[in-house]
Amino acid sequence: MAGTRPGGADTEAARSGQRHTCGVERTMRAITADRYGGPDVLEFTETADPKIAPDAVLVRVKAAAVNPVDWKIVAGYLDPIMHAHFPLIPGWDMSGVVEAVGLDATEFSVGDEVCGYVRKDEVQHGTFAELVAAPVRTLAKKPSSLDWRQAAGLPLAGLTAHQSLARIGVTRGDTVLVHAAAGGVGSFAVQIAVALGARVIGTASERNHDFLRSLGAEPVVYGEGLAERV
Ligand SMILES: NC(=O)c1ccc[n+]([C@@H]2O[C@H](COP(=O)([O-])OP(=O)(O)OC[C@H]3O[C@@H](n4cnc5c(N)ncnc54)[C@H](OP(=O)(O)O)[C@@H]3O)[C@@H](O)[C@H]2O)c1
Repeated sequence: MAGTRPGGADTEAARSGQRHTCGVERTMRAITADRYGGPDVLEFTETADPKIAPDAVLVRVKAAAVNPVDWKIVAGYLDPIMHAHFPLIPGWDMSGVVEAVGLDATEFSVGDEVCGYVRKDEVQHGTFAELVAAPVRTLAKKPSSLDWRQAAGLPLAGLTAHQSLARIGVTRGDTVLVHAAAGGVGSFAVQIAVALGARVIGTASERNHDFLRSLGAEPVVYGEGLAERV
């Protein structure tokens, strides 16, 4: 760590593991967009390392998941409800290793393996980067049974499925219809509902029916006559 002096803020930085720069801005590689648009606005660039607030930790990203919301943000569809600051780094899901901790972030230590749905109020510093500043409320310890890619794919889709089923109070003996059941959210919803003891019917394209059966759901195709088929 360059430039650490005894005492004061530098010692705090050393204790927290924060990379100290003495005014020299460090950079990381990230996928950025400098305007709204399609995939053509995405670039692989060098950008400033994120700074961590007291209630956040700096995570070195091992894997980041791609969710449908990422292209919707880059295309500008969420602009009416979320401020975007350009150049923006997309991405909300990730797994990685804690590299530095904020002064009040007592929940995690340098070296912890974590995963998280790093959603913030505004869109700017996402997870498609080497480093991300993640508020501690967005993180959990990475389950040791999952590899980095599996852990990165868990938070957004898994939480959406879990919260949806919790909100409607699914219990043993219920019958649950999951639409788009072979997708990221849907396949988590199927597995959670099956684990809760529900009978699960899932809509999917025919090519995904064996997959749904393997998760414990009864597959049906979309489209006309769906109500009669379930
Ligand atoms: N509001 C939130 O907080 C929130 C959070 C997460 C996701 N979402 C949204 O939920 C949606 C699904 O997300 P995801 O991550 O599960 O996406 P995904 O992994 O891309 O899955 C999408 C699924 O949609 C299915 N599909 C295609 N045509 C369909 C149709 N006509 N009717 C019903 N399903 C159809 C596909 O299944 P087949 O290949 O079997 O056809 C595919 O598996 C996205 O629109 C996403 O933005 C919202």
